[in-house]
Amino acid sequence: MLHGPNLNLLGTREPEVYGRTTLEEIDAALVAQGKAAGAEVRCFQSNHEGELVDRIQEARSWARGILINPGALTHTSVALRDALLAVDLPVVEVHLSNVHAREPFRRHSSVSDVARGVVTGFGPLGYELGMRALLDALDDASGA
Ligand code: DQA
Repeated sequence: MLHGPNLNLLGTREPEVYGRTTLEEIDAALVAQGKAAGAEVRCFQSNHEGELVDRIQEARSWARGILINPGALTHTSVALRDALLAVDLPVVEVHLSNVHAREPFRRHSSVSDVARGVVTGFGPLGYELGMRALLDALDDASGA
């Protein structure tokens, strides 16, 4: 699970847009969800594009899929997109807010077309749904 810039402030950041759930709560729920499904979930947040690129590259050595909320980098980052393409793992993109119902610049994502799918607008539930979709994709790939 990769979280982009400013998502460390969840809980207090524009709660009318992003809600009151903290990043720690989201991560704890994902780890528990993964555990129940027999998957290890590792969570990482950074405000720095390069650190996220590093983690995506590292994921190649141990992970089977990537759940990502790139935050504002969604709309700008060719580097994140290239990293996701380079590691060739299934990717699910998540947003708390409905990016299509906000400012026009949020409608473009440099990640969506390299993702298996996008969950946007359902608040913290979106992470659970995204994780479920990712775990399903992995089950399909392994013939489970
Ligand atoms: C976000 C939407 C982005 O447009 C914004 O820059 C964020 C959060 C979301 O989860 O709704 O930081 O990714």
